[in-house]
Amino acid sequence: MSDDVATGPEARACLTLVLAAGEGKRMRSALPKVLHHVAGQAMLAHVLDAAPRQADDEIAVIVGPDRADVAAAAQAKHPGVRIFTQTERRGTAHAVLAARAALEAAKGDVIIAYGDMPLILPETLARLKARRAQGAAVVVLGFHAADPTGYGRLLHKDGRLAAIREERDASPQERAVTLCNSGLVAFDGAVVLALLDAIGNANSQGEFYLTDAVEIACARGLVCDVVLADEAEVRGVNDRVQLAEAEALMQERLRRAAMLAGATLVDPASVHLSFDTKIGFDVIIEPQVFIGPGVSIETGAVIHASSNLEGVKVGPGANVGPFARLRPGAVLEQGAKVGNFVEIKAARIGAGAKVSHLSYIGDADIGAEANIGAGVITCNYDGFLKYRTIVGAGAFVGSNSALVAPVSIGAGAYVGSGSVITKDVSADALALERNQQLEKPGWAQSFRARRLAMKAKGRS
Ligand code: UD1
Ligand code: MG
Repeated sequence: MSDDVATGPEARACLTLVLAAGEGKRMRSALPKVLHHVAGQAMLAHVLDAAPRQADDEIAVIVGPDRADVAAAAQAKHPGVRIFTQTERRGTAHAVLAARAALEAAKGDVIIAYGDMPLILPETLARLKARRAQGAAVVVLGFHAADPTGYGRLLHKDGRLAAIREERDASPQERAVTLCNSGLVAFDGAVVLALLDAIGNANSQGEFYLTDAVEIACARGLVCDVVLADEAEVRGVNDRVQLAEAEALMQERLRRAAMLAGATLVDPASVHLSFDTKIGFDVIIEPQVFIGPGVSIETGAVIHASSNLEGVKVGPGANVGPFARLRPGAVLEQGAKVGNFVEIKAARIGAGAKVSHLSYIGDADIGAEANIGAGVITCNYDGFLKYRTIVGAGAFVGSNSALVAPVSIGAGAYVGSGSVITKDVSADALALERNQQLEKPGWAQSFRARRLAMKAKGRS
């Protein structure tokens, strides 16, 4: 009995190798192609997210020379990722062989993926593994291309995958084939190195093509097979037009998942989500809302139109916007309200508390049921350091007050409108920081009379 049968296909270890050594020249960017973002994270990170990550699984990324930035991004996403460097670009098989040390140790499956395929799904890699488990030594992820130009064609003989022909090297009949190579391949780890080492570079580009592994495997009597995917899922990104197309497809996928999970998106096409956006049941999101990375929105919360959120937790039943800006570290507890033209940064807004209009609340802790009036500002920065503002539960801060941090307002206290608060306020006290109001009875009337008289004498 083989190990495969004894342990089951799912238990077999998998090494995923992601090629990210490409120059990506068509992006016309100082940033390496695979670090360009789709839905709030690097394309490379999306691919890493799709890779199998059971206990014995391994991930390796092949980077170009002097690409510490790509290596750092890969390791930031998954700390265990191994990095190999392809020092010269001599083709896809050459790139894979840069990870020889990892390939030598690979016993189960070896999946090769490209770092510029951000839409690839973990289920698809699992399907490649499943087909491998049925006995194929090489399983290629193929797709029917609307326009096959530029892709390697999957050539069949007697109903079996027999070769992959690169467009440049294909005959006119071969070019007529529309079944194409996505670039994703799963190999039997026991034979992958022998296959790769047998690949030569006798082709129009003088490159070592990974795709030649299929013909070599067939010549050795090994079974090669194809698993099909949707063209949209295997789309590669080479320029910024394709980057925008990938973004649109990803947004559609994220919105659809949010809606099917029970959120109402009133005008889905105008809502931008991120790869990690968590949206609860019965959440309503109005049009023109941008949600950056690190946002969770809990059950029953409403995000009104034209709001911008990033790195925030919106608690159950909370109410945001319209035109609110929630920056990283904002936490809205149950039923809290943040209204129009309000910016919140690194601040907790307690349960039922309200910051309804035109405020900046930064580095603050606002107690439950507190009311922050229109135009209240926390003055949290002196040009060098940041300081915190604490507002106790049930406190009432009158409109247009400035809270100069560090400062704390006790529970249940009142701050009179227009105050500049620089000292702590005790619980249940009234703090008022403004001049006594002066009133001169009849002054306006006599002022007008005097001025009218002056004008009548011809003074302008
Ligand atoms: C490749 C496939 C083709 C497939 C297509 C799908 C080969 C020979 N051809 O063609 O069958 O239809 O992808 O998009 O594999 N890379 C390196 N080092 C190298 C060369 C390439 O890391 O020396 C990386 C690139 O950065 C890229 C990937 O490998 O991420 C594919 O290389 P690319 O040159 O884009 O191959 P294609 O011509 O698109
Ligand atoms: Mg390509």
